[in-house]
Amino acid sequence: MMTAAERRSGDVILKLENISLAFGGVKALSDITFDVREHEVRAIIGPNGAGKSSMLNVINGVYHPQQGTITFHGKVRHGMNPHDAAAHGIARTFQNIALFKGMTVLDNIMTGRNLKMKASFVEQAIWIGRARREELEQRAKVEEIIDFLEIQHIRKTPVGRLPYGLQKRVELARALAAEPSMLLLDEPMAGMSVEEKQDMCRFVLDVNEQYGTTIVLIEHDMGVVMDISDRVVVLDYGRKIADGRPDEVRGDQAVIDAYLGVAH
Ligand SMILES: Nc1ncnc2c1ncn2[C@@H]1O[C@H](COP(=O)(O)OP(=O)(O)OP(=O)(O)O)[C@@H](O)[C@H]1O
Ligand SMILES: [Mg+2]
Repeated sequence: MMTAAERRSGDVILKLENISLAFGGVKALSDITFDVREHEVRAIIGPNGAGKSSMLNVINGVYHPQQGTITFHGKVRHGMNPHDAAAHGIARTFQNIALFKGMTVLDNIMTGRNLKMKASFVEQAIWIGRARREELEQRAKVEEIIDFLEIQHIRKTPVGRLPYGLQKRVELARALAAEPSMLLLDEPMAGMSVEEKQDMCRFVLDVNEQYGTTIVLIEHDMGVVMDISDRVVVLDYGRKIADGRPDEVRGDQAVIDAYLGVAH
């Protein structure tokens, strides 16, 4: 298990430099620079509309910034789309849960394995041996994740019937099914009860510690951010206003002003 100090001194694996993104006249991100180190828990915080979700969408190629450079594992990424990002080991969850509500928990998690499926559809049809073996391997991995996140009891339940907190956990499970090296979590604890939040915090930290997964997480609950993140970047109106250890940013005057809604 890694200590916080070791995590904070990991190699830089993702570098975002001078990123600017606008939607028409709306500047969602203005000249943002920060990096992510291997194995760390990196939080992105800021008031509503600050540009946090846009930043995650830039990292996994949903949005293409008009300016700036993204370097992942030492290579500059141009025009990466979400599929490329996933193929490079980046998985994510969404601010609004994006699951197939009518499908069971198990089937939803299986969709997270799509990229890992080697046998093509044609092969699956004509070369049963390989497809069958692969199916068994996929199942084993999915069952491991189900055990890890303690959702055995709901594996056959349609997702739409689950309480919100559990749906969030299933979404995490689906992201983990891709065996990502980097996990982007957009408000994984939003709308949860205190107890559900505690569970989710524990699972996020367990993922980080046991699989070594680098975590980039957006979260509004400052207590959670202070507890689980190694470093925090703070956005406000599309600009970066602070970046550092949780205790550093918490005391930062610009951050306090942003959260109190002081005019700039
Ligand atoms: N697809 C889009 N089209 C137009 N404007 C957008 C789009 N996505 C984001 N924006 C705008 O960019 C700005 C930043 O939005 P973003 O969703 O990134 O903020 P956020 O920090 O995630 O906010 P919240 O805490 O409410 O989730 C907002 O003004 C938003 O309206
Ligand atoms: Mg958002």
